[in-house]
Amino acid sequence: MTHIPADPAPLMHLPVLPAEVLDALQPAPGKLIVDGTLGGAGHTRLLLERGAHVIGIDQDPFALERARALNLPGLRVLEGNFREMNTLLSSIGVTQVDGVLLDIGVSSFQLDDAQRGFSYHTEAPLDMRMSQSGESAADVVNTLSAEDIASILYEFGEERHSRRLARGIVAARDQEPILTTTRLAEVIKRSYPGGHARGIHPARRSFQALRIYVNDELGALREGLNAALSVLAPPSLEGHGGRLAVISFHSLEDRIVKRWMKTQPALTPLHKRPLEASDEEQASNPRARSAKLRVAEVRPPRDIASGSGWDDEETP
Ligand SMILES: C[S@@+](CC[C@H](N)C(=O)[O-])C[C@H]1O[C@@H](n2cnc3c(N)ncnc32)[C@H](O)[C@@H]1O
Repeated sequence: MTHIPADPAPLMHLPVLPAEVLDALQPAPGKLIVDGTLGGAGHTRLLLERGAHVIGIDQDPFALERARALNLPGLRVLEGNFREMNTLLSSIGVTQVDGVLLDIGVSSFQLDDAQRGFSYHTEAPLDMRMSQSGESAADVVNTLSAEDIASILYEFGEERHSRRLARGIVAARDQEPILTTTRLAEVIKRSYPGGHARGIHPARRSFQALRIYVNDELGALREGLNAALSVLAPPSLEGHGGRLAVISFHSLEDRIVKRWMKTQPALTPLHKRPLEASDEEQASNPRARSAKLRVAEVRPPRDIASGSGWDDEETP
């Protein structure tokens, strides 16, 4: 491991929807909860404060280093991808838990640490890997065909100028490989019709797309949901089992969570619509603005004919 974040002081991560997550997972002494996205341990601290034991999983070795340094009593830390949660848990002899939390995406630690290459504002190596293994964003933009790059920008960034931007990227890399965040941002800006996107930085959607692709975020989410379900406690005599709480930040993720929860006969959703942050929270934590929390509980198999309990309105 070569990179240590320079200054830990600005690296604060405010957990989103804190009250809603506590209400969903009902931490208490004697309960065991998995935080599949430990990050800055913001949610984990809240769960621990209420007496639960927490197993914190993260694929980012730097996040784990920081979390271990906190020495939080009741927290056990595991390195890995939450898509393999069941295997990771069974490696420490745990087969069943009372709750699982997934707070998808990157943390402010990762975004604010320029060297990780997630931000188009600061010059850094074009990396974007949370786990520090596998293909980096630089590998992707310098080796894939224009067609494949366009598909990534379109599918994961909903970038409508994907083909044009991909052609711009390939033309630029033919001159010189694209190795830094700022060069990629500049290439995208130059290729963008009129040089700007309405209301947002022209590189924003493309950076999001590359990050999702590099970390296979949607694949991990799909597998992580199934892995979580496989470790949640079955219903007690009163009919209540383990709970799964998932926070997502854009419609691609929320759609996956919503559709998956809808099709699991073992799960009952707790709310008809996803929970969102209050105006107050949105004002104090910009990251909370796009957060959506969906919660479901393991219950005895539902009567399919009685309906799923979900609103049928599609997530945009
Ligand atoms: C949004 S942050 C979580 C913040 C945390 N809830 C808090 O309050 O501090 C997401 C974290 O999950 C990690 N992560 C994202 N996808 C993951 C995956 N598939 N497996 C394991 N960790 C993942 C990231 O490395 C990051 O540290």
